[in-house]
Amino acid sequence: MQRPHRLIASLADVALEASIVGSFSRIGFEVRSASEGWEEPPRLDGKTVLVTGASSGIGRAVAVGLARRGAHVILTARDVDRLGLSAKNVLDAGGTAAVVPADLVEPAQVEALVEQVGATSAALDAVVHNAGALFRSYRQAPDGTELTVATHVLAPFRLTCRLSTLLDSKRCVLVTVSSGGMYTERFDLSRLEMTRNDYRGAVAYARAKRAQVVLASQWQQRLGSGFQSYSTHPGWVRTAGLDAGLPGMARLGPLLRTPEQGADTVVWLVSEALARAVPPEPGFWHDRRLRGQYYLPSTRRSPAQARVDGEALWSWCAQRTGIS
Ligand SMILES: NC(=O)c1ccc[n+]([C@@H]2O[C@H](COP(=O)([O-])OP(=O)(O)OC[C@H]3O[C@@H](n4cnc5c(N)ncnc54)[C@H](OP(=O)(O)O)[C@@H]3O)[C@@H](O)[C@H]2O)c1
Repeated sequence: MQRPHRLIASLADVALEASIVGSFSRIGFEVRSASEGWEEPPRLDGKTVLVTGASSGIGRAVAVGLARRGAHVILTARDVDRLGLSAKNVLDAGGTAAVVPADLVEPAQVEALVEQVGATSAALDAVVHNAGALFRSYRQAPDGTELTVATHVLAPFRLTCRLSTLLDSKRCVLVTVSSGGMYTERFDLSRLEMTRNDYRGAVAYARAKRAQVVLASQWQQRLGSGFQSYSTHPGWVRTAGLDAGLPGMARLGPLLRTPEQGADTVVWLVSEALARAVPPEPGFWHDRRLRGQYYLPSTRRSPAQARVDGEALWSWCAQRTGIS
């Protein structure tokens, strides 16, 4: 039988999850962390983690959180000055960091990033695919792909494939920062890349974030047995990205999470998966718990459909990046 406080914590979690606002907001983090008595994740001394989108918001907080646990962090994003500030925050937290600027939708810059990571690190223990943005108007990557899909789906696909020889095959962790927005969209490859004519930023974002979850489970199935692939949603977090992409959300003010609260489950997953003999189960996580991937019946896929979706997305990514 569960001890009474465990039972109360579980009931509180279920009630928060059902309310959505309670779950995604700061309330969810604060109630869960207190009622479940969250502890510091295990140490990561000697581990190396690449964090994308590390120049700002959640990615910067992930980098600092991992460094505090003893990991060496490699920080990548486009803005060199903001990356420098992130590296300073890591050093101030007692950690070590390397900075490798790259635009992840530019294939040549991804190649250069992989080369530089290889030159400085014998092996990578984890990659956090965090870079992302909600683009309010239609934009294209240099190859003509709509920018939301290019940033959230094709860029992490390319980067993971290109890093494959550096990823430690004994135990390697991939964590993809998706979004609770993905709950609003069913995976449908034919509607994933929106056109100039039908583009709506929040819809394009939700579809790409759903596709990230599908891609994360493909990695789990296709990469070697030492790999653990997770996706997660951070809740609603006060960041420059949120202010630019969804300015209306700023009205939630004190209900928004801090970047550190948004980063918590990412840091926890990397730490638990690298340090424990039995890693957390692969899947979609929020606030240190495995979560369902569907709220709405219209978005639900059967296991057989999900398998077909995953294979179709993989083939599409391979074809669009020219990587098989
Ligand atoms: N904030 C929220 O409430 C929330 C909720 C759900 C999910 N998320 C997800 O959390 C992740 C982090 O978002 P955030 O809120 O922390 O936003 P943010 O502060 O704007 O951070 C986004 C990061 O992504 C980087 N980035 C964007 N495009 C890139 C590209 N082409 N190449 C390389 N780096 C790129 C940015 O760096 P540069 O500009 O320097 O390149 C920045 O470091 C995103 O995936 C976002 O979708 C956020």
